[in-house]
Amino acid sequence: MSNGVANERAKMPAAHNPVLERRTVENSNRNLLKYLRPGIRVLDVGCGSGAITRSIAEKVGLTGWVLGIDPNEGLIEQACQNSENQTRLAFEQGDVYTFNTSEQFDVVTCARTLQWLAQPKEALTNLKRFVKPGGYLAVLDFNHEKLAWTPEPPKAMRLFYDAFLQWRQDAGFDNAIADHLHELMLQVGFMNAQVELQLELSRKSDPDFAVTSRLWSEVAALRGPQLVKAGYLTEEQRLQAIVDYDSWIANEGESMTVYLLAVEARQAL
Ligand SMILES: C[S@@+](CC[C@H](N)C(=O)[O-])C[C@H]1O[C@@H](n2cnc3c(N)ncnc32)[C@H](O)[C@@H]1O
Repeated sequence: MSNGVANERAKMPAAHNPVLERRTVENSNRNLLKYLRPGIRVLDVGCGSGAITRSIAEKVGLTGWVLGIDPNEGLIEQACQNSENQTRLAFEQGDVYTFNTSEQFDVVTCARTLQWLAQPKEALTNLKRFVKPGGYLAVLDFNHEKLAWTPEPPKAMRLFYDAFLQWRQDAGFDNAIADHLHELMLQVGFMNAQVELQLELSRKSDPDFAVTSRLWSEVAALRGPQLVKAGYLTEEQRLQAIVDYDSWIANEGESMTVYLLAVEARQAL
């Protein structure tokens, strides 16, 4: 499919997005904690509405500097509004393939964004230029094929999820990108890269199980209309997936494990 289709499918609806907004470095990008300290400069690529970026800014303090970029105008607007009182933090509209700056950063982070790109290697090639000598490129992403539910989710949600993966694959997105990041890092010229498993496990006994496991109802609500429009499922099937999955969460649902890997590499001195 064309780049136009990939760009269209990657476009996140700019409505308030509870999935993005509840994320922090601690709960959703903990691989960065070992790098974050006062005074460093961080570039957050594909920052969405900026929830993780704000949390990074708190850690680098008044002597540091954080820039978040995202091509989505509506999300960048939300990010700016949500960070009005934070200094040393800026957001700008920018695309990973074409972003350019004369600045370099101690850490360039790109979380859950390469999964939405048909040419992730080109994106990483561009990002490598903005990492200082001795700095780090830290990528975090999913293998959607390794998502695990216990017990199996309702048929309607399985149908939605399979359609979601097919819709993504047909646009050229790699559903298993987490497991290809290490190789991609080497291909763009890093000498080695570290891989860390970052499972996100939601269990019934967790106080927020009903919120975190609802991720897929939220995806069906936010992204689902795009699948319906493209003919991957009907509106009735989309709505049924939400109703049946919410019932699964409230009743038989025991756990959900989302599979992510953090892959990080150091720029040569
Ligand atoms: C799932 S969200 C991740 C947001 C945030 N990094 C997080 O982990 O919560 C994916 C983000 O990638 C952005 N994105 C999609 N295509 C992009 C591109 N070509 N360049 C930069 N960001 C892109 C989307 O706009 C969206 O905000």
